[in-house]
Amino acid sequence: MKRIGIFTSGRDAPGTNAVLRAIARTSFEHSYEVIAFRNGMEGVVSNHSFLMDRSYVSGILPIGGTILGTSLSDPYLENHNAMKDTKKIQEKLSITSFIGVGSFSTMKLCAFMKASDIPVIGIPATIDNNIPGTDYSVGFQTAVDYVSRSLDRLHSTASSHHRVFLVEVMGGQCGWIALHGGLTGGADLIIIPEKSYSVQEVITHIRRREGEGKFFSIVVLADTAGFPVDISDKEKQQIDDHNGLLQFLSHEISKETGMETRQLILGHLQRGGSPLASDRLLGTLLGNASVESVRRGNTGVLVGQVNGQIEYTDLESIKEKRPVDLQLLNTAKIFF
Ligand code: F6P
Repeated sequence: MKRIGIFTSGRDAPGTNAVLRAIARTSFEHSYEVIAFRNGMEGVVSNHSFLMDRSYVSGILPIGGTILGTSLSDPYLENHNAMKDTKKIQEKLSITSFIGVGSFSTMKLCAFMKASDIPVIGIPATIDNNIPGTDYSVGFQTAVDYVSRSLDRLHSTASSHHRVFLVEVMGGQCGWIALHGGLTGGADLIIIPEKSYSVQEVITHIRRREGEGKFFSIVVLADTAGFPVDISDKEKQQIDDHNGLLQFLSHEISKETGMETRQLILGHLQRGGSPLASDRLLGTLLGNASVESVRRGNTGVLVGQVNGQIEYTDLESIKEKRPVDLQLLNTAKIFF
């Protein structure tokens, strides 16, 4: 008989509950027990846990967020004894393997557990899609869909008023949401952390569109996009101290083009709500594969999906966040 310990950690992502349901249901299929920990790693080191039963995961498939709760805390950084505590809890509860579901930082925590000889499997669930070892992380497609639909709505009002809209989207140091959301929502310009850009380039592009009879533009900007390359240190300081990048670009665009501008931050609406079918499916497949992996004794890995196939990546090989493929930005430019 095996016992699986599960936790969700880092920022939540839609589809996480599908993962939890799949872990639980696959475990029960093999007569394994599931111990669930509440509120991320905090719950693991303090043993805030309970024995999960079938009823707990019933009806959770369409629910956003994580029914276990989550936190951003990293107890291993905060407390030198936290790893010892985790081992004690693993022994006390006879846990065969942990399964951690969450963001890039969660995968790093799992890697740290592995390095400390704690059996663990990581499942990538973040709207940011910035984790290596999988084509998509759970939650990404739902966030992209929200961005895409929001841009659809913006088009009618932007074009009616001949305005430039600057739309900030999330992304966790990467441009996946901006690029996929912008491309599918018909953005007229996409600014991401992986690619440098200039104010001049933005203005020239908006003017070019005007010249083509397009008297509105929608510019999508990732929340961690860098400064434009053509601004002074003083302007950078102003952006940091007061206005923010969105406000600065907005001001420069209206000053140089004479067009009215508006700013929109899509914010946490991108992360909330019910997961798309594609995220429910991905979550279900990865959750199922993680238990099958424990069954085979294959731990210390991240379970992802690459080219439609389940793939296992050594957790300790995950070093950096996965940047977007700039080739896709070049493709997107055809539609700007
Ligand atoms: O990592 C997920 C994410 O939503 C990022 O895209 C975003 O930059 C960040 O979290 C926002 O964090 P918080 O919820 O702490 O405001």
